[in-house]
Amino acid sequence: MDLKQFITIVPDWPRPGISFKDISSLMENGEAYRYATDQIVEYAQDKQIDIVVGPEARGFIIGCPVAYSLGVGFAPVRKEGKLPRETIKVEYGLEYGKDVLTMHKDVIKPGQRVLITDDLLATGGTIEATIKLVEELGGVVAGIAFLIDLTYLEGRSKLEGYDVLTLMTY
Ligand code: PRP
Ligand code: MG
Repeated sequence: MDLKQFITIVPDWPRPGISFKDISSLMENGEAYRYATDQIVEYAQDKQIDIVVGPEARGFIIGCPVAYSLGVGFAPVRKEGKLPRETIKVEYGLEYGKDVLTMHKDVIKPGQRVLITDDLLATGGTIEATIKLVEELGGVVAGIAFLIDLTYLEGRSKLEGYDVLTLMTY
C-alpha cells in the first residue's frame, strides 16, 4: 500500500513557508491505519519488546495499537505536570526555547527492551529526549519507529547506532 496517498500536505501551516504533513487523514482511513500499524508490528516482532514508549500526543496514536498487537504494555512520555507518580524528566530544545518531557520512574526495569514510536522525525529533539528518559531508567532501545522522516531536517543524525524504521520519507 502506498501510504503517502493518505498524508495530506497542508501548505503554509502552521506558519507561512511550512508544508505540513498531516497524518490525521491516514488515521481516519481504517485500512491505511491498520496497514501502517502492521508494518511497525512486523518490524518489532522479533525484537523481544517488553514495552512500547511514545511521546505525547501523536506518539500515542502510533504506539498504542502497536503495543496492543504485540501484546505488551504502553508507557506515555508526557509534558511536565501530567504524570501522577514519581517521574524523571529531561529538557529538550524546541525551535524557540525549551520544554520538558517526563516519564514515570517505575515503568521500565533495567534491561527491558523498549520500542519507541512517534509519528514524525523532524529535528529529532523529541525522540532524543525520549531515548534519554528510557536509557536513564536502564531500558534498552531495541527499535524506533516513525511513520514519516523529514530527511531535510536531518533528525536521523541524532539516531546513529539505533535501529530505526521509517515508513515514509520527504
Ligand atoms: C511533533 C511530532 C513529533 C515532533 C517531531 O510533535 O509529533 O513528536 O513534533 O519534531 P522534532 O523531531 O523536531 O522533535 P509536537 O511537539 O508538535 O506535538 P504533538 O505530538 O502533541 O502534536
Ligand atoms: Mg509529537
